[in-house]
Amino acid sequence: MDTASDLPVFDPRKLDDAYYGNPFPVYADLRRLAPVYRCPDGSWFLTRYADINAVYRNPRLYSSDKRIQFAPVFGEQAPLYQHHTTSLVFNDPPLHTHVRKAFGNALSPKMIVAMESGVVALVDRLLDGIEERGRFDLIGDFAAAIPVEIIGNLLRIPPDEREPLRRWSLAILGALEFGLSAEQIALGNRCVEEMLAFLSDFVARRRGSLSDDEDDLLARLIRWESEGYRLSDLELYHQCIFLLNAGHETTSNLIGNGVHLLLAHPAERERLRADPALIESAVEEILRFESPNQFGNRTTTAGAELGGATIPAGSILTLCIGAANRDPGMFPDPDRFDIGRSPNPHLAFGAGIHTCAGLSVARLEGRIAIGRMLARVPRLRIDGEPVRSRRARFRGFDSVPLATR
Ligand code: HEM
Repeated sequence: MDTASDLPVFDPRKLDDAYYGNPFPVYADLRRLAPVYRCPDGSWFLTRYADINAVYRNPRLYSSDKRIQFAPVFGEQAPLYQHHTTSLVFNDPPLHTHVRKAFGNALSPKMIVAMESGVVALVDRLLDGIEERGRFDLIGDFAAAIPVEIIGNLLRIPPDEREPLRRWSLAILGALEFGLSAEQIALGNRCVEEMLAFLSDFVARRRGSLSDDEDDLLARLIRWESEGYRLSDLELYHQCIFLLNAGHETTSNLIGNGVHLLLAHPAERERLRADPALIESAVEEILRFESPNQFGNRTTTAGAELGGATIPAGSILTLCIGAANRDPGMFPDPDRFDIGRSPNPHLAFGAGIHTCAGLSVARLEGRIAIGRMLARVPRLRIDGEPVRSRRARFRGFDSVPLATR
């Protein structure tokens, strides 16, 4: 293929198994021949690092507000619409600035440092069970079990009330995929309602017993006030829903993709074994190579010029993080998995004012979960066919059968 007209039609609403298995050749063709690609539904699909980075860093021209986009999909009264248009990630300043300050204050560096021993204990407990069993599923028995506990701890949700969190999270974030069925939307709506009911009861209990010495994330969000701004109860619930969801599937996928990548690249695994300090750059390379969050979205507030294309006001852009992170203009030999890669300025956590607020939590979980699993189970191997999840926005596996001996 030499010109844009040679490209087969790319429609993010109609993706096939080959794409879910390995979307990177599709991204490479788009990036080379049509880096600002007009999709059949009129939206634009961006694949070049420089363009995506420029969009992230200009929130005035490229808005995160999704009201116009989500109204026809969900309906303005629908719980999914109410949730997604209230959460900070889908808002612009000034609302975004207020809520982001509250999050910045709540997820303090001190709190992150204090989390480490809890993450180690949790990972070791899971590994004890796994070593005894000999065979296990990397996702269900390990990767998916970690974030739910960590965010549950951050918000101090009692352990016996955490069971539905993963199901809620998958359904609510799943409703951001392309080409949704009526059943998926109905399930997402039901899960927002269930989560709101749970949080209104849970926050009321916390408020009723909150003492001055309690300094966890939820206590800080409840008390937060700055420049006359406080979160209303409903805003607080929606931000908590977002927090529980944002740190959930993404981090499971970081852990699942990471362990799978290292098992599939024995030389890199051996490098890590010989030099465990490489775990920090290994986590960055996993985030770049198989970015858990593959897409972001923005809407133009005025006409824009990007990569030689003229884009009208009100256009919807998909920022393909997964493609930006394999851009040869930014990363030498981008399709090589290199756990020592440096520098590695990937966009897996986005960039600009909406840069992931939980990136230190995610890095901590990734470092401990992946590092300890490979160190403690030296004979770990893939023992069956891994199953990729059929989701384009969130890249990960539904299951990866592993054996410990
Ligand atoms: C590997 C794991 C993770 C990945 C790949 C990831 C990725 C991202 C990305 C790409 C964004 C930017 C969205 C945009 O600009 O459109 C974002 C935002 C956000 N993430 Fe994460 N995330 C991860 C884990 C977490 C965790 C563990 C938490 C919470 C504990 C979290 C909380 C947030 C929040 C609150 C935002 C919204 C920030 C804002 O709009 O200002 N994330 N994340």
